[in-house]
Amino acid sequence: MTRYHTDVHISIIWRDWARFRPEAMIDVQIRKLQKKDLYNGFLASLDSLRKASNLKPKKAGVIFGSISKNPYQITYVAVKDCEVIGSASILIEQKFIHDGGTVGHIEDVAVRKDFQGKGVGKKLVKALLEYSKKRGCYKTILDCTDDLIPFYEDLGFKRYSNSMRFDHLSKK
Ligand SMILES: CC(C)(COP(=O)(O)OP(=O)(O)OC[C@H]1O[C@@H](n2cnc3c(N)ncnc32)[C@H](O)[C@@H]1OP(=O)(O)O)[C@@H](O)C(=O)NCCC(=O)NCCS
Repeated sequence: MTRYHTDVHISIIWRDWARFRPEAMIDVQIRKLQKKDLYNGFLASLDSLRKASNLKPKKAGVIFGSISKNPYQITYVAVKDCEVIGSASILIEQKFIHDGGTVGHIEDVAVRKDFQGKGVGKKLVKALLEYSKKRGCYKTILDCTDDLIPFYEDLGFKRYSNSMRFDHLSKK
């Protein structure tokens, strides 16, 4: 069996095991992203989604500055022992339809590999759902791969519609 298959099996067994062992869940503090978090686990957590920890500090600082000025974009982090181990973001969209209602768009839910399957992802998404409810959103939506449908269904999401994308940087 290849290393990849072994890792996948171990991760599936761990997730199944954790499901029946509430003690496998860990306590984390969920709060808004701060600048000091960038190189204290935040970018490293995003690596489980797509490599981000190689971002140069200057650029990371500029991105943080721009996002923190935007009241319609919020990032939450999960903190364990003074270190960020996961994060998730939400964008609040103001509409003309639905009588000017607002919609939450969840993006970039990521938990550091060695902390996955311990309830951190669910805590982050629940916190964002509370946030979007407080901001008056009538719904919160997100895109995910098929394997994550059960994860989001457990949190109360329902399958709805299709996801489409247009790649501006593709050569064709
Ligand atoms: C998806 C992710 C955020 C979940 O976070 P987590 O902390 O591992 O999840 P939790 O421990 O809160 O929840 C675990 C549940 O999700 C399920 N789950 C998590 N990742 C899964 C996956 N890739 N495939 C299938 N199920 C998965 C587990 O089986 C478990 O179910 P249970 O509660 O019924 O036992 C995390 O695995 C991750 O960072 N993955 C890589 C990045 C990614 O794909 N992000 C999602 C973008 S939409």
